[in-house]
Parts: sequence; structure tokens; C-alpha cells
Amino acid sequence: MIEKINNLLTEISEINVSAAVEAEEVRIKYLSKKGIISALFDEFRSVPPHEKKEVGLALNNLKKVTHETINNLKQQFEQKTIDNKNIDWTLPGTMFPLGSRHPISIVKNQICEIFASLGYTVSENREIEDDWHVFSALNFPPEHPARDMQDTFFIDKNRDLLLRTHTSSVQIRVMESQKPPIRAIFPGRVYRNEAISARAHCFFHQVEGLYIDEKVSFADLRQNLLFFAKELFGQQTEIRLRPSFFPFTEPSAEMDISCSLCGGKGCGICKYTGWVEILGCGMVDPNVLVNCNLDTKKYSGFAFGMGIERISMLKYKINDIRLFFENDIRFLEQFESA
Ligand code: DAH
Repeated sequence: MIEKINNLLTEISEINVSAAVEAEEVRIKYLSKKGIISALFDEFRSVPPHEKKEVGLALNNLKKVTHETINNLKQQFEQKTIDNKNIDWTLPGTMFPLGSRHPISIVKNQICEIFASLGYTVSENREIEDDWHVFSALNFPPEHPARDMQDTFFIDKNRDLLLRTHTSSVQIRVMESQKPPIRAIFPGRVYRNEAISARAHCFFHQVEGLYIDEKVSFADLRQNLLFFAKELFGQQTEIRLRPSFFPFTEPSAEMDISCSLCGGKGCGICKYTGWVEILGCGMVDPNVLVNCNLDTKKYSGFAFGMGIERISMLKYKINDIRLFFENDIRFLEQFESA
């Protein structure tokens, strides 16, 4: 057996190959399960006990040397490819596809920049929230029908933990932890238990705004939002505020912009009204300020909230919200990173 092993050692040290496939053939011949060396290991079982130690050592050494030899043979071949003088270095290289920013990120960044230019700070907060921050502190009484306005994904049986249905919850987080003046916007993802269609999805993105200080008025709200609309949709844009209802603002309003597609003349997008709704807003309800331990005699403020998908659909004339989440490259590559 020892002789066999020694013969094999010599045989292996003399092997030469001219291609990586040949080196692989060598490996199969010696080292595969049905290879020569495996067969020797089978034979090893019948070696008499007093020879086992010596033969075992020699056999293991043979296996090790064969491994090393074959690796060297393979490596030498890899080296050859790189050194190959026949490569035409003037051929054009493979183009790497460049990624681009997602349209939702582009529009979110634009919104943040516009408000930042008015002195707003930007912050984010948790998506898994509790009832207090999403509903109760925002003046939704326990059995108030307004709670049904949003179909919620609850996380626990007590219906206390949930996926936030709007970024208004961040208003509460911020007012609980910061003293006015507060001038901030809160972008983030929100979740609603809705059937997915061209107009609705079970998750989407919002930007919430909050301004709390002494003597903040509805006129301030209007002027901030007018500036925002003109910056985002162009200087010709006009706004109109319609009375509405939200539990956390009083008075509340919905804001329309003059249709950026038809310039207000009337088209399919604005349903021939010349106006499209883009956000909800209002003066923060004093009950909300009280819930956050703020002095309602001293402070007032306004808040607003908008859906980023809705605004992106208007800006880019996208007619199906699902396109944002399908990751179809033909859709995504149409947006240039800003
Ligand atoms: N949270 C509202 C929603 O998800 C949007 C909203 C409306 C936010 C009015 C506000 C506001 O801050 O004042 O539909």
C-alpha cells in the first residue's frame, strides 16, 4: 500500500495540463468519490492494525498533496487568461446599468426642500404606533365614526399597537418632546387596510407639516401652502381652500390647486373642474394642544398632510398607483435622479 501511495505521489507530481478543464478532469480522476484516492481509503480499512498508523499518515499526505497540486494547476491557468496577449483591449466595455432615484423619493425630497427653504426642519418617526399617537391624542374619541375613516392594520388583540394610518401621529410625538416654536415636516410611510386598485394601495407615503408658535393664524397657513404649491407645480399655480373636517384641526380645509395639466381650463385629470385636491390642513384643534401639555392661551398653530403618491401622479401624469410599487425597470428608468 505504501508503495502504491508513493507511486501515485510521483505520478501526480508529473502531471501537466494545458486548460482548466483538464485540471478538473485530473481532480475527478483522483479526488472524486469514485476516484483513485477514495478507493485507497476504502482499501485502508483492511490494512493490518500495526500498519494503520504509517499507512494512514501517508494516505492523508497523498490527499493533501493532490489537492494542492490541482489547485496550483488551476491557478496557473487563471493566471494565463489574464496575461493573454490576444485580448482586444480596444473593444467597448460592458455598460453597467445605472440606478436612479425612485419617483416617490424625488418628490419627497422636493417637498422637503421647499419647506426647508421656509425654515421647516425635517424629521421622521416610528411606523408601528399606538392608539394614543394615531387616534386618541389627535382628538378621535373612542367611538367616534372618524376612526372608521381609516381602515387600520392592528398588531395586537387590544387594538393598541397598529401600523400608523397617517403621519399626523408624528405631530404628537414632536409636541410631546419639543417646546414651541415648532416648524417641521414629517415624511414617512403609512398603512391602510384597503383593497389595492389603480387609486389606492395598502401602503403609501405622506408628508405631514406642523407649525406651532405664538399668534399663528390661518393667513400664515394659507401663505405657506401657496408658496409651496407655486414652487412645486410652477408659479402660475393658484390654490383654493374648501371647508372640510378632520378631528385634529378646527377649522379644517382641503386645498386644491389649479389643474397643472390644463391650466384650469378643464380636462380628464381635474374632471373638468379646473381644480385638483392635493392636501388636508387646518388650525390645530386646542384639544390636541392640551393632549400634548401645551398652553392653548399662549400657542396656536396649523397642520397639513399630503400624499406623496397623489402629488407624484399629478406631476408625472401617472394614472395607476400600483406602478410605484411594482419595480418595473421600464417605469423606474424614466425618472432622472435629482
Ligand atoms: N391625516 C390626514 C389624512 O391622512 C391628512 C391631514 C389632514 C393632515 C389635515 C393634517 C391636517 O395635518 O391638518 O388624511
